[in-house]
Formats: sequence, structure tokens, C-alpha cells
Amino acid sequence: MSDLTFYDKTPFNYGYSKEEDIISNMNPLLKNLIEENSGKIFYDIGCGCGRNLIYTSKYAKKIIGVDISSKSLEFASQNIRKKNVEFKLDSNLNLSIDSNIADVVISDGVCHHTGDTFKAFSECLRILKPGGFLYLAVYKKYRYYPFIYYTIGFFLRTINKYRLGNYVIENIFVPFHYLLYKIFKKQKLLLVETKNIFYDYFITPVATFQSKKNVISWCRITNSNIKKYLRTTGNCHTFIIKKND
Ligand SMILES: C[S@@+](CC[C@H](N)C(=O)[O-])C[C@H]1O[C@@H](n2cnc3c(N)ncnc32)[C@H](O)[C@@H]1O
Repeated sequence: MSDLTFYDKTPFNYGYSKEEDIISNMNPLLKNLIEENSGKIFYDIGCGCGRNLIYTSKYAKKIIGVDISSKSLEFASQNIRKKNVEFKLDSNLNLSIDSNIADVVISDGVCHHTGDTFKAFSECLRILKPGGFLYLAVYKKYRYYPFIYYTIGFFLRTINKYRLGNYVIENIFVPFHYLLYKIFKKQKLLLVETKNIFYDYFITPVATFQSKKNVISWCRITNSNIKKYLRTTGNCHTFIIKKND
């Protein structure tokens, strides 16, 4: 795990200049789940730079942020210094964490980047206690984003392999995307933050897309049930899944 991962080079960090923005942009299903499980043990698998740790740490007895990217964990641990927050470098595909120990597992935009979406999902369920809850956010299968990822994204990923291509991305596409963000989005971000979003959107080397039916079938296999569902207006749809007793 010592090799630099994609998210070591472009960690998914943005919005840290305003903590309230991060909290107000959180998915309502996740916010409620955190509030309803106050005083319990949480794991955020693929926590990245720790966006969800900020709010969770206000409620959890303990929250362990796990990620395969040491740079992301470094960023998170510098920004979130609280006694009930711990960090662990580990892979979602083979977690070195005991089974049945978490009350709540958060998997926010992670399983679809691991290369084996179902395995990542089932690892999250394995570490959950029976009766515990998983918050899952995965890319939607039926939306324009998969098309963009496989077309424009493919083009950008291809040219990014070459020095000139990377130069064009860094000096033309990234600033242009920043400009669009400045004009059309309410949240004001720095260039480096919109660059991270751009890379996560187009350049990320692994992305898979799931229908609600896919997730229902995974739940059948893992003896779990969808309790709540939110389609959202974004690229991910979100689920609250209960591990059966
Ligand atoms: C799009 S970011 C989401 C980060 C965070 N959950 C959030 O919502 O801000 C995806 C994260 O998944 C992590 N990741 C990808 N593959 C992983 C794996 N096999 N094990 C653990 N983390 C992984 C990346 O390092 C990255 O931090």
C-alpha cells in the first residue's frame, strides 16, 4: 500500500475553508443517521480528507476514518483533531478490521472507485454489527454522468498520460472548469479545490455505475435490507441499509 494512489495525487478535498458549507451540503439521510446514532461506534470507509468526519465527530462515541490514500488521511488528521476520531490506512477490499464491530458504517462515494464494487460493499457489511446501519452512496447507472465518464472522460484520461496532454488539462480545462464553478455554483472554491473535483469527475481511473436493482441484489446476498433511499439530484444515489440480526 506504499504506492501513491490516484487520490494521493489529487485528494478529494474541498470546502474546508468553511466547515458550515461541508455540513450544510451533507446528504440528509446521512445527517439523520449520524444524529440518530449518537454515542455509537462509526467507521467511515474511504473517508478521504474527512468531510463526513467533521459532523460525525460531534455525535459519535468513536469514529474511525479509513482510507487507502495516506495523503488524504494526512490532510484529514491535520484538519480534524478530536479525541474521538482515529485514522487507519487500509483497503476497503480487504479490511483488516474484525467482523461485527461497528454500529454505523459510512461509505460515501467509495465502493465504485475500488475496482470491485460488490466486494467493497460486502466488506462494509462484514464489519457492521447485526442490526447496524450502512450509509451507502454510489454512482447512478441511469444518468448522463456514465456517458460523460466513458466519452469526454476517456479522452481526457488518454491525453493526461502525455506531458503535453497533462499541460493542456492543467492550464486550459482545469481553469475553465474553475471559471464555470465561479459563475454557476453558489459555493465559492479555490482553483485547487475545483481541480480536485475535476480530477475526481473525469480523470479518476476506476468508476462503476450501479442501479437501485443492483444494490437490492447485493442486499439479498449479504442478508441486509434497504431501509431508506434517496435518489438525489446528483450523480450518486444514497441508501440506508440495515444488516439483519
Ligand atoms: C471520491 S473520494 C470520497 C471521499 C469521502 N468519502 C468523501 O465523501 O469526501 C473516494 C475515496 O475513496 C478512497 N478509496 C478508493 N479506493 C479505496 C480502497 N480500496 N480502500 C479504501 N479507500 C479507497 C480514495 O482514496 C478516496 O479518498
